[in-house]
Parts: sequence; structure tokens; C-alpha cells
Amino acid sequence: MNELRGLILSGGKGTRLRPITHTSAKQLVPVANKPVLFYGIEAMASAGIRQIGIIIAPETGDEIREVAGDGSQFGVEITYIPQAEPLGLAHAVLTAEPFLGDHPFVMYLGDNLLQGGIEDLVSAFRANEPDALILLTQVDDPENYGVAELDGDNTVTRLVEKPKEPATDLALVGVYMFTPGIHDAARAIEPSPRGELEITDAIQHLVDTGQRVEPHVVRGWWKDTGRLDDMLEANRLILDALEPRIDGDLVDSTVEGRVIVEEGATLIRATVRGPAVIGAGARLTDCYIGPYTAIDADVEIQNAEIEHSILLAGSSVRNLDGRMESSLLGRNVRIHPAPRQPRAFRFMVGDNSEIGIL
Ligand code: DAU
Repeated sequence: MNELRGLILSGGKGTRLRPITHTSAKQLVPVANKPVLFYGIEAMASAGIRQIGIIIAPETGDEIREVAGDGSQFGVEITYIPQAEPLGLAHAVLTAEPFLGDHPFVMYLGDNLLQGGIEDLVSAFRANEPDALILLTQVDDPENYGVAELDGDNTVTRLVEKPKEPATDLALVGVYMFTPGIHDAARAIEPSPRGELEITDAIQHLVDTGQRVEPHVVRGWWKDTGRLDDMLEANRLILDALEPRIDGDLVDSTVEGRVIVEEGATLIRATVRGPAVIGAGARLTDCYIGPYTAIDADVEIQNAEIEHSILLAGSSVRNLDGRMESSLLGRNVRIHPAPRQPRAFRFMVGDNSEIGIL
């Protein structure tokens, strides 16, 4: 078989995570202090893929290039592929055709997280040599995904993108494996009602023209991190498997459970109850950090309680009378009290914001 390549889709608009994604790519929002995109790159690297193409959008492409670089930090070579407009996943495949050539490839949606990597899939793809391999998982809200119908266990009969009345609860997971025939299939289809060339329709075209599309039901967890609650859940799932490590400075502080404190972080009279991660250069004073919290680099927390939240780099929270939870703070957000205080806080705040609390 020709060398297997990787294609990661990191373009698109990210409307569901606004305002965070007004200033930053949704694929760079960190889960357990690591950009979502990196999990896909690492999964490919572990599966032995060396050449990875990343689809980027005009608005967020530069930022993605800057963070992921030439790929050497992951042991791969990255080629950036600009897509002028987000015209659909199958359009992204066509945009990448010069890079993909006649290589078989793994396609990974840059905002998806899949537990357990892709090594098993790559092995199945090599062993069974289907024309395409798709991943499926049972979900409670299939209308929000591509949905598959199967005949028996191993034959895909029908795929529909975000059907109003789903025929099954089997959602298409954002990881696919293709042979070069997908390019012709992507050329053969028309834009969907939402105006996109859907990969779901291209795969349906493979089915309709008698090609073999192999379904695999995902065993571990999978998350599309497009929405706040999904981000928080992905954060929980990753933090649950954390290897604890304390490299920062603890002064009169207590750390319990699975916790990483990165080098250069300082905790003074703080209690951290894991799973949690505290980034490099963070400064935590007189505070409580509860389970499922990811605090990124250079965050300052003083006299506050925070739980089940994601705080991006450079943010600060001070003198909060009440616990902050289930929140996502963008970069350089500042939260501090104003004269009167409400009783509950729940935040989703964009980068560079400043909140004065009543
Ligand atoms: O997450 C799984 C779902 O992903 C599947 O069940 C659906 O069948 C599939 O169509 C897709 O649906 P979404 O509506 O969630 O896709 P989204 O627009 O969020 O795009 C997924 C990723 O691809 C995201 O990182 C942005 C990127 N993208 C998207 C488009 C439309 C591109 O790079 N270029 C594009 O043109």
C-alpha cells in the first residue's frame, strides 16, 4: 500500500464557541492545557503517520501555523493547506488533493477528540483494505451529526448529514480513513441544503457506486468539542487519566489526587483537589481549585474558589465571593469584584475581556 498520510481539518468558523473563537481558532482551545488539535496530531504520529496536511482558514490559519509549527515537536512533517472558504468537509478533501495525491489517508476533524488513538483503525484498514472506513458511536442527539444506517454489522447502507428524523442513533465520529477514490466521489456530489459539500454525501456516493465502506463502532469515548459543555466534558475525560506530577512551588498548600503543577507555578495557601492541571507560571494564592479544572500558563487566582472550569493563559480571578464553576475563560480575561455581589457565577467569556462583577 502507498504510504498512509494524515489530513486534519482545522479550518471552518467555530460559531458555536463564540466569543472564544472570535479571536482564536476553536481547534486551539486547550483541553487539559493542550490544544485540541494536538491530540489529533499525536494520534497520527503514534500510528506511524509522518506526513500530515492541515487545512487552515484565512482568519485563523496563521495562529495554527505558529502553534503547531513544522511538526518537528511531534516527530511529523506538517504541510499547511489554505482553504479560502469553509465550503464543507468534502471540499476540504478536494482542496488537499495535491497534497494527498494517490495516498490513502486518515482524515481527522481538528475539533474532535478520540480516546485510545487510531492505531487499531489503521491496522484494520491495512488488513481489510476497504475503500473507506468510518467510525460510529451511539449518541443521544443523532440529529446533530452525520447518521449511519447499517445492514447487519458490517455493511453501511445509508448516511445522512444531521437528519431531522434520524433513523438510528449511530453518529459519524470525526475520524475517517479513505483510499484515493474519495476525490472522485467528492467531485460527484452537490452542495447540501446548508451549502456545504458534505463528506457524508461523498461516502454515500462510494456506497452507491458499489465500493466497500467498513463501519467501526468506537469502544472508548469520543467528543466533538464544538460547544462549551462538550469542551468541559472533554476536559473531564482527559483529566481523569492524568499522571500526577508536581514541578512547581508549594507554599503552605495542599494538593490532593491527580494533579499536575507545572514548573514555574506557585501555590501559596492554596488547596487543589484533582483531577486538575496548573500551568507554568500560574500564581494561586488563598484559593481552592476543585476537581476537573484546567488552569493554563500565567493565570493568577487570588482569594477565590474555582471548580470544573477551563481558564486560558494570562487570565486572572480575584476576590470572588462564591464559587465559579462550569466556566470557560478566554485568554487575558480578568474577573474581579465591583461593589455589589450576586450569588452565583457562570461564565463563558471571550479572549481579552474584562468583567467587573456587580
Ligand atoms: O464531529 C463529527 C461530525 O463532524 C460528523 O458527525 C458530521 O457528519 C460531520 O459533517 C461533522 O459535522 P460538524 O457540523 O460538526 O462539522 P464542523 O463544521 O464543526 O467541522 C468539523 C471540522 O472541520 C472543524 O475543525 C472545522 C473543519 N472544517 C469545516 C468545514 C465546514 C474545515 O476545515 N473546512 C470546512 O469547510
